[in-house]
This record gives sequence, C-alpha cells and structure tokens, in this order.
Amino acid sequence: MNDFSSRLTQWQREHGRHHLPWQVDDAYRVWLSEIMLQQTQVTTVLDYYARFLERFPTLTDLAAAPLDDVLALWSGLGYYTRARNLHACAQAVVRDFGGHFPSDPALIATLPGIGRSTAAAIAAFAYGTRAAILDGNVKRVLSRWAGIEGFTGVKAIENQLWELAESLLPEPSSDQNIAAAAIKAHTQGLMDLGATICTPKNPTCLTCPLSADCQARLSGRQAELPTKKPK
Ligand code: ADE
Repeated sequence: MNDFSSRLTQWQREHGRHHLPWQVDDAYRVWLSEIMLQQTQVTTVLDYYARFLERFPTLTDLAAAPLDDVLALWSGLGYYTRARNLHACAQAVVRDFGGHFPSDPALIATLPGIGRSTAAAIAAFAYGTRAAILDGNVKRVLSRWAGIEGFTGVKAIENQLWELAESLLPEPSSDQNIAAAAIKAHTQGLMDLGATICTPKNPTCLTCPLSADCQARLSGRQAELPTKKPK
C-alpha cells in the first residue's frame, strides 16, 4: 500500500470517527447521510437522519411518499434542492435499478443530486468500491500535502487534484474484505482529517499522520494553501 494511504488508514482506525449511525453496509443509509452531510454538519445531521429513517425505513418507502412529506422532514436543514433530488433519486433507483442502489460510482453519478465525489463516497462506504473522493475538505488536505498552488475551483487544478486523489487510493487486494475495509478507512480518514486536523485555520499539524512529507508544512505555507479564490 502507498505510504500516504497506509498512514491515513492507520490513523483513521486509531483516531477517526467510528460510531456514526450511517457507518453501515446499506447504500440507502449511506446515500441519505452523504446528501445530508453535503452542506450540513454532523451534529445537526444526526437528529434529522434518525427522524428521516423512522418515517422512511427503506428507499422504497421514500420513493412512494408524497414530496411534501419529504420536504416537511427536511424543514430546517436548508438547501431544499437536496430534498427534491433525494425524492427523485429514490424514484429513479426504484424505476431503473429495481430499488437496489448501484455499486458502480459512474452509474451512481447519473442519479439526481449526486456528483462525482458523493458517488465515490457512497460506493466506497456502502460497497467497498475503490473510488476517489474530492470534496472541499479533501481539496484542502491534498493541495497542502502535495503543495499544489492555484485556486481549486479552476478546472485544471481540480483535474490535477482528482488525479492525485486516484493515485493515493489504497492498492487493490486479492482479499475483498481487506480491500473494502481499506477503502472505507481511507475515505473516512480523509474526511476526518479535513474536519478535525487539517482545518482551514490553525491546522494541528503536530498530530497529523501526513505531516512528515506535507509540502505546505515543510515550507510553512499552511495558511496560503489551498490558494484563495482570485478577486
Ligand atoms: N461528511 C461527508 N460525509 C461524511 C461522513 N461519512 N462522515 C462524516 N462527515 C462527512
């Protein structure tokens, strides 16, 4: 396994978050959590997630519900397009995939409200599929670690980060269980690192498993990377 991923997965296993209710082998629950977590913090999502599952225990229940019921349960979370897409997505999975969430990230990314990174997160967490994520937090972690300059919203920089994210994935293993556990720990590790250590302000590099070869840290550029949006 590459050094980046072995240090990250080991750190995640020792210090990462392990008791989140959506850390289960169930694509419906994983998907629901990832959509809620797109623009909302974990502490807020916990209550909404529990209430949502109580009312819609399965994807089929969600697909069959009136949109207004979905919007009512979403009330307070904001970004209501997410709720509309959630409902449309449940209906598309029932219609096009017999109610079974696909495991191929390229297929998942064709569903309403799911982009490339969210599709990869769902595939990794629910099925152990080897796919790279690149959300805002991961862009920060990777641009600092590799010392990549340039606004991450620019396509060329984003493409460079996607390539890097792919290259750092844990290597495939002939043992499916080992491979799945590694990709889950790697993916959750990137999220946990971005949320708790490699924060936008005052990152705590002293406890970071990647600090030994982090280019931003080695050159004291933690505050300059990622490059801010040009005015
Ligand atoms: N943010 C997005 N996905 C997350 C997850 N699975 N756990 C914690 N925070 C997240």
